[in-house]
Amino acid sequence: MRRITIFDTTLRDGEQSPGASMNLNEKLEVAQALAELGVDVIEAGFPIASPGDFEAVREIANTVRGPAVCGLARCNPADIERAWEALKGATRPRIHVFLATSAIHREFKLRMTQEEIVARAVQGVQLAAKYCDDIEFSPEDAARTEHDFLCRVVEAAIDAGATTINIPDTVGYAVPSEMYQRIQLLINRVPNIDRCTLSVHCHDDLGLAVANSLAAVEAGCGQVECTINGIGERAGNCALEEIVMAFRTRADYYQCETGISTRRLVPTSRLVSKVTGLEVQRNKAIVGRNAFAHESGIHQDGMLKERSTYEIMRPEDVGFAKTDLVLGKHSGRAALGDRIRALGFTLTAEQLQHVFEKFKELADKKKAIYDGDVVALVQQEISGRADEAWQLVHYEVSSGTDHLPKVKLTLAHHGQAVTREVEQGDGPIDAAFWAVESMTGYRVVCKDFRVRSATLGRDAQGEVQLEVEYDGQTYRGVGVSTDTVEATLLAMLNAINRIEQVQHATASDGTSQDIA
Ligand code: KIV
Ligand code: ZN
Repeated sequence: MRRITIFDTTLRDGEQSPGASMNLNEKLEVAQALAELGVDVIEAGFPIASPGDFEAVREIANTVRGPAVCGLARCNPADIERAWEALKGATRPRIHVFLATSAIHREFKLRMTQEEIVARAVQGVQLAAKYCDDIEFSPEDAARTEHDFLCRVVEAAIDAGATTINIPDTVGYAVPSEMYQRIQLLINRVPNIDRCTLSVHCHDDLGLAVANSLAAVEAGCGQVECTINGIGERAGNCALEEIVMAFRTRADYYQCETGISTRRLVPTSRLVSKVTGLEVQRNKAIVGRNAFAHESGIHQDGMLKERSTYEIMRPEDVGFAKTDLVLGKHSGRAALGDRIRALGFTLTAEQLQHVFEKFKELADKKKAIYDGDVVALVQQEISGRADEAWQLVHYEVSSGTDHLPKVKLTLAHHGQAVTREVEQGDGPIDAAFWAVESMTGYRVVCKDFRVRSATLGRDAQGEVQLEVEYDGQTYRGVGVSTDTVEATLLAMLNAINRIEQVQHATASDGTSQDIA
């Protein structure tokens, strides 16, 4: 069996999915879950991209143990120095430098000749290698780069000190047989190729990211770059859960294994979905709700007689819990803690205590507490508390068919309470928006507003997910309550707190940069 290195880029490429940005607490929570899942490398971010990215990479490097922690940098001194500054606390730091190599990128984006590209790549790798031993180099858009030139850049990067060479299909253009041939070409034509690990990084624009990554591994790659739930730029990246289960289920064919604890796949998928707001489609392979649901009578009959008639993997092997365990008023902190862990979250003692208090309050309002309720409480804890500048203190709302909706709202800003009454809008939710906007001073454009019940029954909590635009950027907000207006107010404040955080970070640390 060949041991394949799983390089997770949920926190870097995954976070580049529109609207998927995570705050520091959420990133730490995901990084911890990735370590427990058993990934080999966590790409924690692009430190020069923004102060928030820098901070997240630094915190993860300083606190998360187990996997190597990697930071992305373009091939220039400022990027590489910033990446090292963020990574230096890691026990196993990796700097990932990249530079586009395809003719389209050279000509239109970089305006550089082939010679200049090779020189810049070599300088980048050499500088990074002064800081640490583990250096990855990516010729961006490698899948569309001329064969001879790709071989030349790769050879030069290895000579300069790259220990991993990653072949990105940046725009999701490749097809499996072509990817196979490209990797074989590098193995056969680059004389020093045995001095590095070959890696693959595929995007899913044609729905081929997993297939292309599998082809690359068959051809000889020893590392796969992937993300939880396949999130990432545009159509996303190769889905970690899919490629890992392909290796495991078809070990007879691939003769490959990974260090992933597959029972953590579903809990980690749920966590990432919750903190990014990107829902997993029901029929998504491995982690979708329907992935193991057999509907047809013929299939059900076959399953009852012998599972393997229609099941190639067991749901429990990827972490689907057998039951939606019900907790209630009399459940203790230990039972709640166990359930939270099984659902994929790792809380500090202080966070658990806080969630437990909220759990008790909720248990007074509704009899049965389901997994969905627990996830909602935990998510509020990790995405909110530590950085919530604006807090909801109290509200009253009245609305009807023949009068304008009225909201009396009390908010606290850094502990200072302010009350205002607003009589405006089309209904109580709209009035709540107006009230929050007028009190916080942030005028936002609402791009998406969704309400769903977190669990079953009439007493279920309502979960409001919204996406708003402010200053050209998209922000998410989530709020949960047994009262939908309260859930809306909480979601709105969650989004506004994210805006305020970014505003402050940018104001105190200069500008943020675009990813090349
Ligand atoms: O898709 C891509 O080319 C990338 C590189 C930075 C590896 O994400
Ligand atoms: Zn990418």
